[in-house]
Amino acid sequence: MKYFIRTFGCQMNVYDSERMAEMLDRMGFERTPDPRQADLYVVNTCSVREKPRNRVVSASRHVRGVNPDAKILITGCVAQLEGQSLMEEAWADGVMGTEMYHVFPDVVQDVMKGRTVVATDTQDVSGYTFVKAAPRPQGIVRYVTIQKGCDNFCAYCVVPYARGPEVSREVSEIIEESQSLVQSGAREIWLLGQNVNSYRGGLTFPELLYEVAQIPGLERVRFTTSHPKDLSDELIDVMASTPGVCPWIHLPLQSGANHVLDLMGRGYTREHYLGLVAALRDAIPDISITTDVIVGFPGETEKDFLDTYSLVEEVGYEGMYSFKYSVRPGTRAETMPGHLPEHVKQDRLQRLQSMHESMLPDILERKYLGTVQKVLVEGPSVRNGEEARGRTPTAHVVNFSLPGRRTPEDLVGMVLDVEITEIRSHTLYGRLAGAESRAAG
Ligand code: 5AD
Ligand code: SF4
Repeated sequence: MKYFIRTFGCQMNVYDSERMAEMLDRMGFERTPDPRQADLYVVNTCSVREKPRNRVVSASRHVRGVNPDAKILITGCVAQLEGQSLMEEAWADGVMGTEMYHVFPDVVQDVMKGRTVVATDTQDVSGYTFVKAAPRPQGIVRYVTIQKGCDNFCAYCVVPYARGPEVSREVSEIIEESQSLVQSGAREIWLLGQNVNSYRGGLTFPELLYEVAQIPGLERVRFTTSHPKDLSDELIDVMASTPGVCPWIHLPLQSGANHVLDLMGRGYTREHYLGLVAALRDAIPDISITTDVIVGFPGETEKDFLDTYSLVEEVGYEGMYSFKYSVRPGTRAETMPGHLPEHVKQDRLQRLQSMHESMLPDILERKYLGTVQKVLVEGPSVRNGEEARGRTPTAHVVNFSLPGRRTPEDLVGMVLDVEITEIRSHTLYGRLAGAESRAAG
């Protein structure tokens, strides 16, 4: 029996898909890169905006067309929210929600026997079961989930409905999983949660971060996502003083206007956010800050938008994901007054993005060009298999050429000094620096 998993959405979904793949491997299924060969096709879905929501249905119906005999199972956020009606609309055989991963093998067996499965129950918060990650060779960068769900209910966001209440995973489970991943070759770990700063699994988040960084053999640890309202001085201290904790933070802004932040229910002001940026930069001078922004939230005026625009300009983000506000059924913003026409949202998004696009090359050149960066090698470059690809501590991808007969595969997992010689469309390019070049050659 062969399986294929299609994943939409965030790192949490990538993590969940990895767990499903491991369970299928243990059940004796074989992974296929071709959906037409699959006996089981899993679509792991994202509901955060309307576009990815709609792609689920077309992906599933497409597979039904090209591979009519495959069993189709839809998992994740959209499955949780829409259940049976989604299954029917997408011509699937089963739906499984976000809190059922611990019984995924049973769901698969039922679907393979030809039963129709709607598994969208929720788990008791007190006894929530996290599915453990399995070690696998070649996994240099691995994700570890520390928390599921979210209790924030930002007015635009469907996540608290799709993933339920926040539950923190026990410290011991997180440490054990991280240790076992490091023993099987991981050098970098990303701790994942919807709002890591509100982690409460026996330690505070900064304490947990410190503990993970102490694991012997682990080179780097990062985390995402940090909610600005809960970012503590303690976290900044731990980031600044703990070797191995990367100088990178993803700090979603969403809006730079206090009026809109208030409507969104974000729990911080523009001034507070800028204060955090200043404190982070003061304590960690080489930190990279990246963000998420929503434009065109209901009630956002042109002046509000310009507040966002000026804040993005002022901070000088090293990366920005920006979105037009998208109505999500059941959220508070759905029924707020002042929904904006599509062309206004489109125009604001375009202005924000072109401003950021035009300032980013300068930001990156000033900071990185001509410097020597510690690059953790992850594999061959995507475009040119003779070059190696890795990341800086600040999470930028670097492609670099290799001396002599070395292949990228020889260097996977090493941290090398790479001199940055060029920057093209957000990617850094370089060559091995001095002694590293001789050692690696
Ligand atoms: N519309 C547009 N963007 C959204 N996001 C979350 N919900 C919505 C929505 N309804 C964005 C936020 C969040 C990112 C993951 O997706 O910026 O940080
Ligand atoms: Fe959504 Fe807000 Fe929770 Fe982030 S913190 S997942 S934006 S509700």
